[in-house]
Amino acid sequence: VTWFEALDTTLDEVWQELLRGQGDANAPARQPTLATHGLTGFPEARTVVMRSATRKSAELEIHTDRATTKVSELKTRPRAALHIWVPQRNLQIRIRAEIEIADRDRTDKDWRKVPTASRENYGVNPAPGTPITAPNQIERSADPERFAILICRIIEIDTVCLTGPLHHRALFRRADDWKGQWLAP
Ligand SMILES: Cc1cc2nc3c(=O)[nH]c(=O)nc-3n(C[C@H](O)[C@H](O)[C@H](O)COP(=O)(O)O)c2cc1C
Repeated sequence: VTWFEALDTTLDEVWQELLRGQGDANAPARQPTLATHGLTGFPEARTVVMRSATRKSAELEIHTDRATTKVSELKTRPRAALHIWVPQRNLQIRIRAEIEIADRDRTDKDWRKVPTASRENYGVNPAPGTPITAPNQIERSADPERFAILICRIIEIDTVCLTGPLHHRALFRRADDWKGQWLAP
């Protein structure tokens, strides 16, 4: 039996990939696609960096600029999807998560750990998404008030593995204590 033929080893594989994403810049889970409910009715998807993954609580963390559109979207509807494609494993990971924007204490604590060179990513003016006349018409400032941590509390994980003659699809739900259920692919 290979990993994708059993539910528990499929979930182990997912977490191995997520945990690899925390530290390894080349791991597919390092740069998931984060999708939100757009404010104009279109879904919005963008690449982000996954900063940390914790299996016990089934939580992932993402850093962003508080002034980005995604933060407004998540304040309006605090639910998101994360998509990861792992080519070496032929594995698609789709995550549904509830998003909490971390409180001030937590944000202040983590800001100290953000490398100086990266701090300027939080505080571009005018705010991200504002029309400008030329690409250099911005100012960067490292602004701790603009730093935000998105805590993604995973509710469901939907996996598809295309290795072998059979395609394997499974759904893992927090509500079922992650025991997993096969789905038609
Ligand atoms: C490789 C890559 C990594 C990125 N990482 C992040 C990130 O960790 N956080 C973030 O807010 N934006 C990140 N971005 C930028 C987003 O994709 C997006 O353009 C930006 O956050 C504005 O999105 P929004 O207007 O939908 O909020 C990254 C972009 C690329 C290409």
